[in-house]
Amino acid sequence: MQRILVLPGDGIGPEIVKEALKVLDRVAELEGLELGIDEGLIGGAAYDAAGEPYPQATREIAREADAILLGAVGGPQYEALERSKRPERGLLGIRADLGLFANLRPAILYPQLAAASTLRPEVVAGLDLLIVRELTGDIYFGQPRGVEVRNGQRVGFNTAVYSETEIERIARVGFDAALKRGRRLCSVDKANVLEVSELWREVVTRVGQDYPEVELSHMYVDNAAMQLVRAPKQFDVMVTGNIFGDILSDEASMLTGSIGMLPSASLNAEGAGLYEPIHGSAPDIAGQDIANPIATVLSVAMLLRHSLGHEAGARRIEDAVGRVLDQGLRTADIHSEGATLVGTTAMGDALVAALGE
Ligand code: IPM
Ligand code: MG
Repeated sequence: MQRILVLPGDGIGPEIVKEALKVLDRVAELEGLELGIDEGLIGGAAYDAAGEPYPQATREIAREADAILLGAVGGPQYEALERSKRPERGLLGIRADLGLFANLRPAILYPQLAAASTLRPEVVAGLDLLIVRELTGDIYFGQPRGVEVRNGQRVGFNTAVYSETEIERIARVGFDAALKRGRRLCSVDKANVLEVSELWREVVTRVGQDYPEVELSHMYVDNAAMQLVRAPKQFDVMVTGNIFGDILSDEASMLTGSIGMLPSASLNAEGAGLYEPIHGSAPDIAGQDIANPIATVLSVAMLLRHSLGHEAGARRIEDAVGRVLDQGLRTADIHSEGATLVGTTAMGDALVAALGE
């Protein structure tokens, strides 16, 4: 039996995770999978219950789990907390603790949603790109960091750091992913300004010699941000550091119509993974049955594929999403004229029904 740890978190987290678990249950039944589901606390919910955003109890079950499904963390009520207690620290804590360095963020436009993108349909039609974001290094974790008084005023500082080993292992994830797809890898950096990026570019280029079948290109991050909205279909796989990947993946999500559609996988060297939608906890719409559960449902598909090795189950979910969109069902974030507006629960029910078809 494989064990899955579920961490619903804050805001819309619990509602979308509930729908995703309905889908997972049904897939397990249809595919004859035996799964053990544990539930744990993270983020603000964990702070409220245990005084810590990533409590010891969660840490312990997380280490034992074959895979983790996470909703979202954060909320306005936690913003005044001291930094180490904030919900985001829980997420960063679990990523670091489990060594989840490889973050896969696919941006796929479902043809049914071409009208939901703010870009012209011909610019985004057929879009299928994968952002490989390094997740445990860079300015997110680099030392020194802090705020201190210098010459009579406060100064804030962070440090962008990458070692050759860190660059090489994420580059390999990028090249391996490209091999299985369109065989093109674009490495994104800021090598015209930053030393850390110069090293990044050098190491990625060296690793590229092991992958003669993959066409490697390099792009500065400012240009990449522009090219993503100008001509996003030029990209197959993009590999980049933690902060550039954070920004570019939010940007890429809007090409697909809604950030409510995009799943992600964060993997470590042992193949264990944490799966979560790339969107946040959306406290403004929490508890109203209007959030889109599809990003979390698609995260379950990634979980089946990458951590449980169950491609058939993953496909079943992805096909069900396509079918439900074909039926014209839309949550508010992807709704357009002529479609049927549904809530979170109804979308989950429709997905469960579509799984068995
Ligand atoms: C993401 C989020 C997180 C990040 C926040 C919530 C800490 O924006 O997963 O992209 O910056 O990595
Ligand atoms: Mg982000």
